[in-house]
Amino acid sequence: MSTDTDASIDIVRRYEDRSWGDDGPTRGVEDVVEAGQVLAFPRLAFVLEDGERRFLDPRWADAKAKNVSVRWPAGELRGAVGGADDLAALRAMIVRFAEQSEALALRLFPHYRGHLRRGNTSFRPTDVAGRVRSWRQDDTRLHIDAFPSNPMQGTRLLRVFSNVNPDGAPRRWRVGEPFEAHARRYLGAIGRPLAGGAWLMHKAGITKRRRTEYDHVMLQLHDRAKADLGFQQSGPQARVDFAPGATWVVYSDQVLHAAMGGQHMLEQTFLLDVEHLRQPETSPLRTLERLLHRSLR
Ligand code: SIN
Ligand code: FE
Repeated sequence: MSTDTDASIDIVRRYEDRSWGDDGPTRGVEDVVEAGQVLAFPRLAFVLEDGERRFLDPRWADAKAKNVSVRWPAGELRGAVGGADDLAALRAMIVRFAEQSEALALRLFPHYRGHLRRGNTSFRPTDVAGRVRSWRQDDTRLHIDAFPSNPMQGTRLLRVFSNVNPDGAPRRWRVGEPFEAHARRYLGAIGRPLAGGAWLMHKAGITKRRRTEYDHVMLQLHDRAKADLGFQQSGPQARVDFAPGATWVVYSDQVLHAAMGGQHMLEQTFLLDVEHLRQPETSPLRTLERLLHRSLR
């Protein structure tokens, strides 16, 4: 891991853990991740079995899907193409990543035990550089995670990433300013959602559940940051490279991030309701409510 840091954006904390399970040294670091830091484990590799190295190839990814993924709670494989035996082996690799990530998260964050919910697990064998996207979907631009069709209603997005590149290529990220400073940058320009719009989008199946005002503001922050080329070029930021064999953990709804390059990564999303944080006031929901002086539920 190497960083090229705008001195004010010093948000990567490094830990020397080498194992995913209960024997690893780091535990009880809820306050660090909730403060909007990136927990980096340069020596915590997700180890592929011999028969799994062949999966490090974009041909396993369905061209229409963004990623290969396993969806929970059913655990079905999505977005992959291949024969039944191959797909079963590919799924087993991704499921092992889900289980190891969960063991790690529960050791790092024992306060979340019983409350952390497993979201999708993704395998990303496609080169970041080759992803053709509209500006809104362009994850090489700094952003917080917020999704048009999947309103979070304040629920946190905690993500575990591992670089499994076999050729030495790092996952190259940029990270940016703290969430509150970022919210203040655009909040004055963000209006209220259209009356009846959230109901209509839910009714029409555009959103999976009702888009709350929290989701409206988060989507606006996501879009305004990506559309603001001045911010992208000159806003506070630091480069961070995650080498193959590195794992990192971050609240991606809070930490400004961008993926500039790299290929072959696994990612596990966890969901956590705000009241189960050790410090709920650090959440984007509570931060935005404090800045706007009203409930966004
Ligand atoms: C993102 O979450 O924006 C992309 C992360 C990555 O692909 O490295
Ligand atoms: Fe993102």
